[in-house]
Amino acid sequence: METKKLWGGRFTGKTDPLMEAFNESINYDKTMYSADIQGSIAYVKALQMVNIVTVSERDSMIKGLQQVLQEWSSGTFEIKPGDEDIHTANERRLGEIIGSEIAGKLHTGRSRNDQSATDFRIYLRDQLLLIKSYLKTLISTLTQRANAEIDIIIPGYTHLQRAQPIRWSHFLLNYAFLFQNDYNRLLELFDRVNSSPLGCGALAGNPFNVDREFLAKELGFSSVIQNSLVGVSDRDYVAEFLFWSSLVMIHVSRLSEDLIIYSSAEFGLIKLADAYSTGSSIMPQKKNPDSLELLRGKTGRLFGNMSGFMMTYKGLPTAYNKDLQEDKEPVFDSLSNLSSSLQITSSVVATLEINSSVAKSMLTADLLATDLADYLVRKGVPFRETHHVSGRAVQLAENNNCQISDLSLEQFLTLNPLFENDVFDVFNFENCVENRKSTGGTSKQCVLAQISILNDWLASLN
Ligand code: ARG
Repeated sequence: METKKLWGGRFTGKTDPLMEAFNESINYDKTMYSADIQGSIAYVKALQMVNIVTVSERDSMIKGLQQVLQEWSSGTFEIKPGDEDIHTANERRLGEIIGSEIAGKLHTGRSRNDQSATDFRIYLRDQLLLIKSYLKTLISTLTQRANAEIDIIIPGYTHLQRAQPIRWSHFLLNYAFLFQNDYNRLLELFDRVNSSPLGCGALAGNPFNVDREFLAKELGFSSVIQNSLVGVSDRDYVAEFLFWSSLVMIHVSRLSEDLIIYSSAEFGLIKLADAYSTGSSIMPQKKNPDSLELLRGKTGRLFGNMSGFMMTYKGLPTAYNKDLQEDKEPVFDSLSNLSSSLQITSSVVATLEINSSVAKSMLTADLLATDLADYLVRKGVPFRETHHVSGRAVQLAENNNCQISDLSLEQFLTLNPLFENDVFDVFNFENCVENRKSTGGTSKQCVLAQISILNDWLASLN
């Protein structure tokens, strides 16, 4: 039997089977089955309010839709040929359950254009709430770890060259704050996603005066989109989400890169838990940081989802075009990879071990060359000159095959007459970090202040 297409009225020729497969989106948009049914239930109520359906028709449609929902959630929904997308499939099934006489009224004044935009926004919104909670866990994991290990000092790097000592916690909090910014950006993006397009029709609006404010409220949207063309074809929120998720992953990737370096034998500063590492099939000694490498690698994939969609979106004429069906797969892919990435990142951070004696052994006096220059600054010498003097101390130590802290007072005095015995107090890593007391610095008091800012913020989240 030839299946009846939802839009088949004006067509006499058959669709090429390859075109049929090319056109369908059911294989992935079925993910939004629940959002689609929620949207239809709200819409039926709105139709009854303007007397397009009776109370009993409304009730039978709602009951039927609930059965369709139940079939999806129990895995018994059967996709049939001709179920082009989730909207078509659900409506077809509703007709089978309650009869097409009543089911046929569901789509009055509605279009798949406002319907798919509605489903997508509901689905994305709900997923964003989950992702938000994973991001919060990650921030709190980093903050807790920073608090617990505040006494560990490590070399800080610039250009990946040893620069100045910092607290390990300071390093962790760098990421906590970046992820906090991501969280706040998500809150802004969320409001733009959570706006209702339902009742915009195909493009020009709804001819039956359905109450769009009612529809929005029923579906938990916080606002109503004010222009029907925007309602059906705006996908800025998709672009925004794809950019946002790429940026989050860039933070994940940079953290991963740091941890991969720190876990190498050459550094030996951290050890990943076995649960997040794998072995080599040929080299028995290997313990590879696969979790971190995958996190770094997936960043490219999420960026690809963004750039691919941007190309699809550019140059579209006003209102709905089928190109827009290409919005779903990149978003679904980014959502699922971001969800797992954030959870894995939290677990890796929570379970890695830092080797505090290695950290200690990594601290060499060259990291204090700036502090040596600062010593003379405190005695009134201009920094430009003290920088030079300290540089010469580094050179002198290099020539003598020793550390700057091993130079004698006599040797220091050949560089500048203001050196005194207290110069040796400079060569103390604790003093060095404790000197960085201005807001944002790596002294204990500053790091504790950062921790308490983050903890207060975390506690304020609902
Ligand atoms: N499956 C379509 C999508 O995801 C639904 C909208 C179809 N609208 C249309 N006029 N063909 O975009």
